[in-house]
Amino acid sequence: MKPQLNLKRIAYGADYNPEQWPEKTVSEDIELMKEAGVDMVSLGIFSWAKYEPTEGEYHFEWLLKIMDQLHEAGIMVDLATGTASPPIWLAKKYPETLPHNAAGVPLGFGSRQQYAPASPKFREKMRELVKALAQVVKDHPALKMWHVSNEFGCHVWESFDPHTISAFQNWLENKYKNIDTLNHAWATSFWSQTYGSFNDVSAPGLMPTFTNPAHLLDWKRFGSDMLIELLDVELEVLREVTPQIPVTTNFMEFYPQIDYWKMAKRLDVISDDCYPDPADPASPAREAFAGDLMRSLAGSRPYLLMEQTTAAVQWRPTGNSSKRPGQFKTWSLSRVARGANGILHFQWRQSPGGAEAMHSAMVPHSGRDSYIWKQVVDLGNILQRFTTDSGKETNFLNEVPTAQVAIVLDWDAVWAAQCSIGPVSFDPYKQLVSWYKTCYEAGYVVDFVESGADLSKYKLTIVPGQIATKPELLSSFESASKAGGTILVCAPFGIYDQTMRTVIGGYHGDFTTTTGVKVTDLCVATDSDYERWAEVDPKVDRISGAVVTPATEKVKIVVTDEHLFPACEEFEVEKVLEADKWAELVRPQEDVRVLATFASEGAACDIAGQPAITARPWNEGKVVYLATDLAAPGRAVLLRTISECAGLPQNNCLSAGVEVISRGEFTFVFNHGEETVPLPSGQKVYDLVSEGEVSTVSPRDCVIYRH
Ligand code: GAL
Repeated sequence: MKPQLNLKRIAYGADYNPEQWPEKTVSEDIELMKEAGVDMVSLGIFSWAKYEPTEGEYHFEWLLKIMDQLHEAGIMVDLATGTASPPIWLAKKYPETLPHNAAGVPLGFGSRQQYAPASPKFREKMRELVKALAQVVKDHPALKMWHVSNEFGCHVWESFDPHTISAFQNWLENKYKNIDTLNHAWATSFWSQTYGSFNDVSAPGLMPTFTNPAHLLDWKRFGSDMLIELLDVELEVLREVTPQIPVTTNFMEFYPQIDYWKMAKRLDVISDDCYPDPADPASPAREAFAGDLMRSLAGSRPYLLMEQTTAAVQWRPTGNSSKRPGQFKTWSLSRVARGANGILHFQWRQSPGGAEAMHSAMVPHSGRDSYIWKQVVDLGNILQRFTTDSGKETNFLNEVPTAQVAIVLDWDAVWAAQCSIGPVSFDPYKQLVSWYKTCYEAGYVVDFVESGADLSKYKLTIVPGQIATKPELLSSFESASKAGGTILVCAPFGIYDQTMRTVIGGYHGDFTTTTGVKVTDLCVATDSDYERWAEVDPKVDRISGAVVTPATEKVKIVVTDEHLFPACEEFEVEKVLEADKWAELVRPQEDVRVLATFASEGAACDIAGQPAITARPWNEGKVVYLATDLAAPGRAVLLRTISECAGLPQNNCLSAGVEVISRGEFTFVFNHGEETVPLPSGQKVYDLVSEGEVSTVSPRDCVIYRH
């Protein structure tokens, strides 16, 4: 069994960077932490220079002193290994540890994270530090969790230095064993790219034009593996010295460069950092997305929100607005509702200087005399109530909400889409998020699942576009359909295999037995900023003015099956639904029913009347195929229809802005809107947040009650 993080209540705290302040500030900090109900801090995240100011000379006495003080105050330490930002001596003495950009130029010192993940010297020095640190703190009672590095890959996820290139060659040799296998997989007979040996293969740095997509895809896989290997280097030391202490590292919501499924399996506690933009109306959905994803990565177990902020960040190039009143509390509690057992922040005290001095924190520059501080103390109080209100102990910390819908998330498929050159810029993240948001708006909790996962417990599974598809996905589909589930598969799907070789004989290949269609032709629209050879004015240009170019419009489809009509009415949308740029000509099998066809207007007019949405029975369930990329109204109509057929609960009578979710014995009702709304149950309840009887929820507020 994995080491556990034993919590008695929802943890509350922050990254704690006392080295930015005079020593005496620590006692004041601890008093403030007690006032706010803080019981966990992440120490040492960027402390390598203080841990080891010169090579091999370690200074941990300051750390031990602070850990003693924190322990005495009952505050747990999530201790960082400090390896995320190496000190100047490493860069100067071992310049080979610096990452190189695609042009082969080393990145300089003076920021953070300046290391090449595959650098042997970096790994050696990192291992030495972690060993020295672990040995010094191993029996310290404040040490409750290890925090390895910080946001793996946040700024640097690839390096084009000589050591990394040779690690890539070894990685390829290990994978393909002989060079002919690689040549076939990468289709190197095209453009005379055939390699004679693994040593010939370089990193896909700057090139005259398009890089071989299979080369790029393997580079991305290698990059992810390098970062996971880096975690392994630290884990090996920590497991040996402190086998009883659980280990985490902080994820960054959906981060495209690392296969978090792989990384998550190595960790004991899943945690993430989340900074939605308060200027974005989809931010509550984004919080929910991150919460559902982290709970899924944790194997349907609770996780920790390791970093968020109290008000505004400082790093958005487009401006940094503050959370509006109520949003700090409400968004934090929405993470609790989706399975968070801890709400922590970057950072405890707002920095007095440096790159993040303008980033909000729990203790702002103005100190206790601030609006933020009051919010911080209020939230700290609320978080304690889940396990201590009326003195009643609950099992809350072991519970998670139950998901109604599964969404397949596969990093390889995301990378493949990024590597495919044409036919249109398909953004797999956008499609994933769009379908998630449609589920969120419909009131569903979502589990994210891997290709190959058993889906038998889900009534509905959504597969956002997977341009390259893994064979093991077929077994997931079988598990879902044999249990009577519905599977919605979205285009583009099954165009490439795992090495970016195309599926010959109609896309979907072996998956045609499931989807019931094969794709014979693509009919995609052009990006809106398309190139025109010359200006065309129909008034005077007799020939060019007569040429019609539907490809510059959006794809449109027409709903033809009456099962979709009620949802069109409910959402007050026309039966012509807008999509974006993708359209496919599909050949359906005999048992396929057509639910919608391409419209005679819009980008896909040349395939008007051809199937755009199909459905077929398969095993005990159903498979729906969407041959385009529907916009929000179309997604809502389709989801409403298929979820109803699949027997999922329909939340179509909640007020605007209201999100309801249950975790354990509690129901959380969030009001993200601007009007006070009645509780959906219509009853008066005892609210954990306001500690009183309520029957309504105020704007940007939340009510939590025992159901
Ligand atoms: C995170 C990082 C923190 C801090 C924060 C600012 O990415 O882990 O150290 O930089 O962002 O929002």
